[in-house]
Amino acid sequence: MKGTIFVFRTFISLLIFISIEAYAQNDKNNNTQAWWKEAVVYQIYPRSFKDSDGDGIGDLKGIISKLGYIKSLGIDAVWLNPIYSSPNDDNGYDVSDYRTIMKDFGSMADFDALLKGMHEHGIKLVMDLVVNHSSDEHEWFKQSRSSRTSPYREYYHWWNAENGKPPYRYSLFDVNHDAWRYDSLTNAYYLHYFSRKQPDLNWENPKLRHEVYDIMKFWADKGIDGFRLDAFQFAAKDTTFPAFRQGFEKNFTQYYGMQGNLHGYLQEMNKEVLSKYNVMSVAEGAGNNFEDAHNLVDADRNELNMAYAFDGVDIAKREGYSLLHFKNVFSKWDSSFAAKGWLSIFLANHDQARLVSRFGNDSPEFREVSSKMLTTFIMTMRGTPYYYNGDELGMTNAGFTKIEDYRDVQTLNEYRRQKKLGANMQEYLKQISFESRDNGRTPFQWNGTLNAGFTTGTPWIGVNANYKSINAVAQVKDPSSPLNYFRKIVKLRKENKVLVYGKYTLLDNKNPDTYSYTRELNGKRLLILLNFKSVAASANTEIDLNKARILIGNYDHPSKNGKLRPYEAIVYELQ
Ligand code: GLC
Repeated sequence: MKGTIFVFRTFISLLIFISIEAYAQNDKNNNTQAWWKEAVVYQIYPRSFKDSDGDGIGDLKGIISKLGYIKSLGIDAVWLNPIYSSPNDDNGYDVSDYRTIMKDFGSMADFDALLKGMHEHGIKLVMDLVVNHSSDEHEWFKQSRSSRTSPYREYYHWWNAENGKPPYRYSLFDVNHDAWRYDSLTNAYYLHYFSRKQPDLNWENPKLRHEVYDIMKFWADKGIDGFRLDAFQFAAKDTTFPAFRQGFEKNFTQYYGMQGNLHGYLQEMNKEVLSKYNVMSVAEGAGNNFEDAHNLVDADRNELNMAYAFDGVDIAKREGYSLLHFKNVFSKWDSSFAAKGWLSIFLANHDQARLVSRFGNDSPEFREVSSKMLTTFIMTMRGTPYYYNGDELGMTNAGFTKIEDYRDVQTLNEYRRQKKLGANMQEYLKQISFESRDNGRTPFQWNGTLNAGFTTGTPWIGVNANYKSINAVAQVKDPSSPLNYFRKIVKLRKENKVLVYGKYTLLDNKNPDTYSYTRELNGKRLLILLNFKSVAASANTEIDLNKARILIGNYDHPSKNGKLRPYEAIVYELQ
């Protein structure tokens, strides 16, 4: 009898082992289904989402009070910008304590309630992990700068001044674009790729790396569902700091990204943390080319699940862009990831001006329709969509006219720099009214009451003057609003796996006005037609549309035969 039980048990263990192995193997296969591939990720900028206590700053309780709204969008996961303690030089991207919550945002009890509330609503939570740098007010940095012999000295990058000036490094946010800052306390320079208050952490130091893994475990143990690794492509450095050849500063990603042992650190992070929890991981930045991007996310390398490249959002950095270029970029990225790896799809976030103002048309005539067209694009491409809060309402650029309206460290420091250089400041103001990050950071427009219902106090940044006509309450009531369109198309994506996994084929590729493509999976074939222009245009796909069924369109009565009205978007199911 005992022998039989033993054989039976061994058999069962073997079965369990085989299925776990099969699952693990399967999981490495690119075509394997995964929640993070199927998810629509909604990004919340907590500072501007909803203020619950009247101090003019959005907070965690504010987000909790809006869980019903968030759920109603049909999204699967929320990516929350940093909510850790911070002196807010860069709105939370300068962390002074990774294990506590920023006072403006609330307490750890609020965080626990938020996480619980999200999970009860079936929404996953992805946290921002800012570990290329910390705040200069983090205890590590305070110790590090205090003496050359501090045990924390090697947590950051220092260059002793008796060795002369360090070889030039570019800083993205510094007033002089100089990444080395002299500190008289120890007669040395420290490195900061972002602002002076954001010293870069030394990833070459194993002690620092393990501190970060412990922080990740702290949050993963709380039950969060993922990490977005902020600016991580810049984390590894050649600590001998060799001089770069001239002209290098023009392409930051090329000279500063994906250096040294970055992949080694990610593999270590994966082994120490990511593989031990059911969490997804996404890197901000994907290097310089497809090879870099694959090296980050190809499943057999055991690094990250996803990364997002800037090629797409960068297309509309300045006013006006070419649709041919746009199609080319997205088609190339898709084909490079068709067999292996997984993409992210996004056109906006907190580092960009507003989606509709940059890629669409925010005039009263075309704002709604162009915003829905862009949403259609994001929701019908292969890859995981990341969608920024407020874009579902078609929120527009801020309309700021003077420098006092702005809060962003990058915008303000560049203003100071340009002024020092004697530049034309009216021109600069015009430029930032189109491209400053603050355009995407104005308070969420909940309703038509004071401050758009965001706060009862004075908002930390001005509310967009158009909140009386563009707000969530008005759009909930209007069946053809951008908000209700967003809900419908998210549902459509969730119901049609072809929109997640299906093969993408570009049609009519030389058409400068319209973007047409098919998505195909297991015999199901969808056709997407998008007019990116403010005038009527034809999509010449040579597909007989008489037999096609319309699944969704952004006009009440979609056009026939591929003749599209301004910014028209139609999704068909082909027979
Ligand atoms: C990332 C963030 C951005 C921040 C920067 C420095 O690019 O998205 O908001 O300013 O990193 O942390």
